[in-house]
Amino acid sequence: MQLCVIGTGYVGLTTGACLAAIGHDVICTDADAAKIANLNQGKLPIFEERLPEVIAAAVAAGRLRFTSDGNAAIAAAETVFICVGTPPDADGKANLAAVEAVARQIAQNARGYRLVIGKSTVPVRTGDQIKRVLTTYASGRFECDVASNPEFLREGTGVYDFFHPDRIVTGSDSDRAATRLREIYAPVLEGRFQCGWHQQAASACGWKPPAWVATSIKSAELIKHASNSFLSMKISYANAIADICELAGADSSEVLRGLGLDRRIGADFLRPGIGFGGFCFPKDLSAFIEMTAELGYDFRLLREVQAVNARRVEQFMRKVREELWVLQGKTLGVLGLAFKAGTDDTRLSPAYGVVRELLRLGAHVRAYDPQAMERARQELSGPIEYCERAEDVAEGADAILILTEWPQFRDADWPAMANRMARALVLDGRNLFEPGELSRHGFHYRGLGRAPSDAVAAPALSS
Ligand SMILES: NC(=O)c1ccc[n+]([C@@H]2O[C@H](COP(=O)([O-])OP(=O)(O)OC[C@H]3O[C@@H](n4cnc5c(N)ncnc54)[C@H](O)[C@@H]3O)[C@@H](O)[C@H]2O)c1
Repeated sequence: MQLCVIGTGYVGLTTGACLAAIGHDVICTDADAAKIANLNQGKLPIFEERLPEVIAAAVAAGRLRFTSDGNAAIAAAETVFICVGTPPDADGKANLAAVEAVARQIAQNARGYRLVIGKSTVPVRTGDQIKRVLTTYASGRFECDVASNPEFLREGTGVYDFFHPDRIVTGSDSDRAATRLREIYAPVLEGRFQCGWHQQAASACGWKPPAWVATSIKSAELIKHASNSFLSMKISYANAIADICELAGADSSEVLRGLGLDRRIGADFLRPGIGFGGFCFPKDLSAFIEMTAELGYDFRLLREVQAVNARRVEQFMRKVREELWVLQGKTLGVLGLAFKAGTDDTRLSPAYGVVRELLRLGAHVRAYDPQAMERARQELSGPIEYCERAEDVAEGADAILILTEWPQFRDADWPAMANRMARALVLDGRNLFEPGELSRHGFHYRGLGRAPSDAVAAPALSS
């Protein structure tokens, strides 16, 4: 099938490449001509595991192309996916300017029939508006259906998630649209693909048939906002429980494990931290609150989710100050800048919140992130030294702060790091370690929602 994907960011690029991998002819376009030029030279704008291999294979097979000529891309394809950004406005509502611009562009360049699929995360009833724009601005013989196909991929495992979704949600209001949507995703629904990036059949990679959730357009739009808000709520709940554990003298790892083992609750997203960030949860939560308010519902529950999250960086900084008192002139080693592990995305990263606060208080920062340092160099200003290895942040540091849960931080040479520091202190903003793990290497360790653990003295030499 001939598909056009508009917007080649985390969602559009991953979706376009994976749709090509399952056999469609895909043309990706973006308003950012430099991004397209780079893609045509094989340079990816984002870090996403497995994506380079999937793109290279699809391009080599002649099924994936990139163009900055959006009009031509629209004219050539039977089905158009809208994957542009929907950033927050100052009032928290979703800014739909890019979605509207793309709908107009489609109306002006498509002839004959088009299925226009909204993949961007949008407030309920956006589908109606897209349809209205398509009809209003149509400049020739043009007939269309609109559908909603919200995206649930997780940055960092986006390729895996495309091939192994829990569910595929499609909202449409015509049989013609519903049939085409099912045809597009048939290889994923039936496991008819090699597992994306290597030559194993789907069945050999733990693939299970996803649920096919066919709904109205409005329901599909709501499913996405309701899902992200629920996941945000789970994170804020875990953070609130961690705070309570600290006050009560309990251990949040024990409590949250005990909670998550209940299948009705589930263990995912029950880990305390310095808060959720990224391009999805914060903006989708506020857009959902604003949109439900427009509908006449005051979603106070979600406002509290926001409030809990907003306090996380401040609470973490309180711990830093409790340990170090004055920060001016001190050196802080920072591990992690991305908003979560597995990505180079730093949008609304809580790690940035901590780093900015450290700099404001006059500290000198030595930072390392496996993927996000290039972005951070452009986005953060102040006395930050970017290190080549995780171990190097320890040099002369008064403390190391773990701000992103990259698993490789666990494998760093912690005993050597302790020796390089002015004071062997770790403040773990992601509970990457268990209490006691670093203490045996001589660190004073503080995590979230549990008692600090003191450095264990080296055993005395027997006389
Ligand atoms: N990032 C995620 O993990 C994720 C997951 C699920 C859903 N979403 C949703 O998907 C949408 C896209 O998110 P993203 O993270 O990929 O954003 P992104 O910023 O990485 O990519 C958006 C792309 O759209 C392009 N664009 C903007 N206006 C355009 C226009 N008029 N014509 C053509 N291209 C245009 C931009 O240049 C950019 O490359 C958002 O609504 C987001 O909420 C994101």
